Amino acid sequence: MATRDVSRKLALLGGSPVRTKPFAAWPVFGKPEERALLRVLRSGKWGRLHGPEVERFERRFAAMHGCQHGIAVVNGTVSLRIALQAAGLEAEDEVIVPPYTFFSTASAVVEANLIPVFADVELDTFNLDPRAVEAALTPRTRAIIPVHFAGLPADMDAFMALARERNLWVIEDAAHAHGASYKNRPVGALGHVASFSFQSSKNLTAGEGGMLTTNDDALAAACRSIHNCGRVPGGVWYEHHVISGNYRLGEFQGAVLNAQLNRLRAQTARRDRNGQYLARKLAALPGLYPQRRPDFCTRHSFHLFLLRLDEREFGAPRAAVLQALQAEGIPCSGGYGFSLHRQPMFQNKAFGPFLAQARARLDYRAVECPNSDRLCREQAVWLEQRLFLGTRADMDDIARAFEKIHAHRDALRDWARTRS
Ligand SMILES: Cc1ncc(COP(=O)(O)O)c(C=O)c1O
Repeated sequence: MATRDVSRKLALLGGSPVRTKPFAAWPVFGKPEERALLRVLRSGKWGRLHGPEVERFERRFAAMHGCQHGIAVVNGTVSLRIALQAAGLEAEDEVIVPPYTFFSTASAVVEANLIPVFADVELDTFNLDPRAVEAALTPRTRAIIPVHFAGLPADMDAFMALARERNLWVIEDAAHAHGASYKNRPVGALGHVASFSFQSSKNLTAGEGGMLTTNDDALAAACRSIHNCGRVPGGVWYEHHVISGNYRLGEFQGAVLNAQLNRLRAQTARRDRNGQYLARKLAALPGLYPQRRPDFCTRHSFHLFLLRLDEREFGAPRAAVLQALQAEGIPCSGGYGFSLHRQPMFQNKAFGPFLAQARARLDYRAVECPNSDRLCREQAVWLEQRLFLGTRADMDDIARAFEKIHAHRDALRDWARTRS
């Protein structure tokens, strides 16, 4: 079967595809979610201040991530901003962020009136490089935001050592990493505070939502106050202590998240098993380099399965390989088109009212992060998490599609040439 598939003409060039069956759908839901939503509906307690769901979810999610405190908020962007504010940073302090991540990791820094300083990622793990962070430190550096990108834990021992040495805050951006672990310790409890997202694509979702986790009592109290209009325990209702807002999560989302959380452990284990299996298979092909998994990663949540495609070694350009994969029935993308510091917002310093003092001296056009640029422009291939909720046979289909494309790389290269 495998040999026949591989020898057939590429689907992109008129052959039949390796796969026509759809992969696993996302989100996964059923009766437990329905029952939980109806329970909240009928209770009439739809807000976090009155119902039990969000509070229960906070306790359960925090405990699963090795933390005493969990503060649920409306999304994983606001949670980053709240963490920065709770840490007590001062206007226009510097915060080191990677350039290979979603917009929010850096936009939240600007929205806290702090300066994002970009330090490059490692080419092979896609994660923030501790050596690049060290080189980016200045006397104004106050915090680092390592992202556990795609669900692979960042090199947290290195970042915590730097933080101890230089008295810095470490905020984990764990938006991709629910249930992932580092040296058998859950992410979310590795830095001073962590931020999660429950937006639709994420491994745990209620459509939208976010969470802060920490073991620091003072930080937790500050986050809780900021997420609730600056209220403090024991204060009267219309008493507001700090600049803040209403960032509370609602009970419908809390209910869905409680039901989804019951599924998370098994789903994460399955994704990790399938991801490791596929990585082994793809690494056997020339020019394909699945995201390197350092020994400290004891569970990868595979929010994304990442690989690098070296066009020269593989024998065909990435854009054509992506199109060929899609034609073979494998959903995929090349991820970010360019590094975060190259976004128009940074290039044009379109910061609204923020960073008024520093703006004149900031120049994001001069930032150099060659690894991130290379991943964006030439090498990255992304497969979504839902594919990894399937079977081993699904992984074999993905591998077979890559094998087939590699076997027909000359034809694909010719096709790409005629179109350029
Ligand atoms: C790495 C990373 N950080 C932060 C966020 C922001 O989360 P949200 O969309 O819930 O605001 C995302 C969302 O896509 C993300 O991928």
